[in-house]
Amino acid sequence: MQKPLHILFIGAGRMAEAIFSGMLQNELNVKITISNHRDQERLHTLGIKYPVQTVSNWVNIFPQADVIILACPPSVHDKVLDQMNPMIQSHQFVITVAAGIGPTKLEAALPKGTAVAWLMPNTAADVRKSMSIYTFGQYVTKEQQALFQQIVGAIGTAEQLTEQQVHDLTAITGSAPAFLYHFVEALEQSALSFGITKEQARKLVLEMVIGSAAMLDKHREPAQLREQVTSPGGATAAGLATLADNQFVDIIGQAVDATNKRAKQQGQE
Ligand SMILES: NC(=O)c1ccc[n+]([C@@H]2O[C@H](COP(=O)([O-])OP(=O)(O)OC[C@H]3O[C@@H](n4cnc5c(N)ncnc54)[C@H](OP(=O)(O)O)[C@@H]3O)[C@@H](O)[C@H]2O)c1
Repeated sequence: MQKPLHILFIGAGRMAEAIFSGMLQNELNVKITISNHRDQERLHTLGIKYPVQTVSNWVNIFPQADVIILACPPSVHDKVLDQMNPMIQSHQFVITVAAGIGPTKLEAALPKGTAVAWLMPNTAADVRKSMSIYTFGQYVTKEQQALFQQIVGAIGTAEQLTEQQVHDLTAITGSAPAFLYHFVEALEQSALSFGITKEQARKLVLEMVIGSAAMLDKHREPAQLREQVTSPGGATAAGLATLADNQFVDIIGQAVDATNKRAKQQGQE
């Protein structure tokens, strides 16, 4: 059997766990080491829950890693990249999942020739249904690209884009799940106002959303599905008209723009 690929995670938060749990479920031939900053209790808990090695300081294990996944906040990337710079070896592949940190920034912070990639997954990686977007730096080999496909394939579906497109579309794939969950919260609140219990409101709304997602998955045409529910002059049409009167589409566009603006700021901070 081939020697397992050694993957080091710097940062062991929600996104790191979603990614490495997906890899483990997919039975990739990998050895996983995780590290974080301060929270030793979380590291200990993860080490018991999953077959991963935990280290409180990643520096000593760094030379043994084939792939380094930066799953720490964008704000600490400068510091972590500075630490990595003198140690990095030419075969090592650095992947960040941080909002706003593209290959241009990674390549500028690391020695010339370092292979880097930017992966933007979402938290559905936890159930292997992340819609991830990604882009490669200029020094990534064909073998590293194939390896990358295995990693992203373990957490869901992925689409390769340009660096600018990943900046622009992170709001749609990375942040919009939060918009959707907020929509669910708003519907639950509305359902509660009709005198049902919290459990009933949750069941009604969640199962409606799960059913609608399954319909989207099967038919792939949201406009057609919307029209099927909407008889002209009927009750659903009245509800949709209220959304339109209140600039629903425009508000979503504004939320996307605000998300992108903040992500860009975070990448520069
Ligand atoms: N959550 C999402 O939906 C999502 C989607 C796409 C991308 N991302 C990206 O994923 C990254 C992690 O997000 P998250 O949601 O997993 O956050 P999180 O749960 O808060 O985890 C952050 C992790 O980074 C560690 N960390 C902080 N400072 C560090 C340092 N100086 N060196 C090493 N590790 C450090 C933290 O360790 P301690 O807890 O010990 O401080 C923690 O393990 C972010 O860059 C974010 O932009 C998140």
